[in-house]
Amino acid sequence: GIIQRIQKLEKEHALAIEDYEYLIENRTPETDDWIRHKAVQITRSIYGRDIYVRGLIEFTNICRNNCYYCGIRKDNPHVRRYRLSQEEILSSCKTGHALGFRTFVLQGGEDAYFTDDRLCAIVSEIHERYPDCAITLSVGERSAESYRRLYEAGAERYLLRHETADADHYRLLHPSTMSFAHRMDCIRTLRDIGYAVGIGMMIGAPYQTARHLAEDLKFIETFQPEMCGIGPFIPHGQTPLKDFPAGSVDLTCYLLALIRLICPDVLLPATTALGTMDPKGREKGVLSGANVVMPNLSPTEVRKDYQLYDNKICTGEESAQCRGCLERRMLSIGYQVVTDRGDKKNI
Ligand code: 5AD
Ligand code: FES
Repeated sequence: GIIQRIQKLEKEHALAIEDYEYLIENRTPETDDWIRHKAVQITRSIYGRDIYVRGLIEFTNICRNNCYYCGIRKDNPHVRRYRLSQEEILSSCKTGHALGFRTFVLQGGEDAYFTDDRLCAIVSEIHERYPDCAITLSVGERSAESYRRLYEAGAERYLLRHETADADHYRLLHPSTMSFAHRMDCIRTLRDIGYAVGIGMMIGAPYQTARHLAEDLKFIETFQPEMCGIGPFIPHGQTPLKDFPAGSVDLTCYLLALIRLICPDVLLPATTALGTMDPKGREKGVLSGANVVMPNLSPTEVRKDYQLYDNKICTGEESAQCRGCLERRMLSIGYQVVTDRGDKKNI
C-alpha cells in the first residue's frame, strides 16, 4: 500500500515508476496529510523555518516559441510586447537589493534581441554591483556556448523546466519546432557547465496522466536537480489549450511533498501559479515541503503583460508590497523570510 511505499521512499529516496504511479493514483485525504507532515519535518530538519526569497524580474515577453499552453507564445497577437532595458533591469535589482533580495531571477521569453553579448553585459553588471547576490537565468533553450559565456559572466543558476519527462506528452504540448531531446540536452549541458539547475513541470497539464507524473518523479530522482519548480497548469484564454481544466492545488501539494521525500535538500518553490489557484496556495505549498517563494520584482508597468496564464496574482502590486505580503503570509504559518542567497544545503 501507500504506507510501505512511502517508508521505502523515505529510506531509499527512490522507487520504481510503477510505485510512483501507485502513489499518485491511490491517494486518500489521510495519506495526503501524513505524507505532507513527513515532507515538512524533513524540510525543517535541513532548512529550519527559513523561507528563501528570489526576486523575479520578467525582463522580456517576446518569444520565438509557440508552446500550446503559454500566454506569451509567439502567435498570441493580443499580447503587448515589451522588453526592459539594461537600466530598467538594474533599477529592479536596486529596489530588490534594498528589500533584502539576495537572488535575482532574470526570466524571459526566447527573445533574439538578447544576444550573448547583451545578456552577458547585463549579468556581469549585476554581478559587479551586487557581489553578495546570486544570479539565476530563466531564458529557455540556448547553445552550449551561450550557456558557458553566461556562466562565466556570473550567472550561477539556471531554471529550465523539462515540462514533461515523456517524449510523446511533450509533443502534445509543443509544436514540432521544439524537441524533447533538445530540451533534455540543454538541461544536461547546464549541469555539465556547473550551473545549479532547476527543472520542473506543470501539474494537471493537458493530456497528463499519472504515468506521466510518475515519469517526471523518476526523472527528478535520477537527475537530482538543485531546484524543482512545479505549479498547477492554468489555462490561458488566448492559447490552443484554453479549454482544458486547471490542475489541482491538492495534487500539486502532494507532488511537492513527494519531491521533498525524493530529494530532501532540493530547493522547492511554492509558485505563483499555486498562489493564483488558491488564495492560500503558497502557504499550503510551504506546509507540503516547499521552502522558496519568488515574489515579483518586475516594474509594475509591465506586470500585466507577462501573463503565462489567466488571473495571475500580484500584477497590480509594487515590489515592496509583494515582499511585505509574503513576509506576513509566511509569518502567519510560523515561517520567516530570510535575507540570504538561499543556496542549496548539502546533506
Ligand atoms: N499554466 C501554468 N504554468 C505555465 N507555464 C507556462 N504556461 C503556463 C500555464 N498556462 C510555466 C511553464 C514554464 C514556466 C516559466 O511557466 O512550465 O516553464
Ligand atoms: Fe504580491 Fe502578495 S505576493 S501581493
